[in-house]
Amino acid sequence: MARVHENHGRREAGTASLERRVDAIQAALDDRGLKASEAVVELGRMAEEEWLPRNGARVVARAWTDPTFRGRLLADGRAAVAELGLSMPRHHRHLVVLENSAAVQNVICCTLCSCTAFTIIGLPPDWYKDLEYRARVVRQSRTVLKEMGLDLPPEVEICVWDTTADTRYMVLPVRPAETIGWSEERLAGIVTRDGMIGVARL
Ligand SMILES: [Fe+2]
Repeated sequence: MARVHENHGRREAGTASLERRVDAIQAALDDRGLKASEAVVELGRMAEEEWLPRNGARVVARAWTDPTFRGRLLADGRAAVAELGLSMPRHHRHLVVLENSAAVQNVICCTLCSCTAFTIIGLPPDWYKDLEYRARVVRQSRTVLKEMGLDLPPEVEICVWDTTADTRYMVLPVRPAETIGWSEERLAGIVTRDGMIGVARL
């Protein structure tokens, strides 16, 4: 059945706008008792209140201060973050934690779309989803990092990790030297989302 809708004041036959299609799917699911509208509201709340970089910051601070936790985190990230009460969606089957060092800078991307361990490091920023970043960071990583303000010496090796649907990554940044003696809470305060993506050093 062809539908007619408004488009910038013109009436065109064809496909309805994205908003109208979403509304129609939501209404159809609601009609069948699947509570789509409630789920949309709840997902919006979680995106704003729960899926925040502060979760990953807690993980990093714990890893910096507790070597046995750090070992468990590097061995099985998903199990280790659960110790801090953090969970991941079922389809995020693996959390692989990549440890930076003076000699190695790990960087994550999703060349296909926008996958991240979003319940841990927060939802991806717009530039992460941009075709420009996704295409260039794998081919011109040193240049892209420099453009983003991270000018690494040539002797630092850059490792770029491409996320898949079931394997999510998180970068464990190098702990800044001036933070010796800091509490875990204070350490968590300096960990940024960009540091956990690997496009910044702390
Ligand atoms: Fe993706």
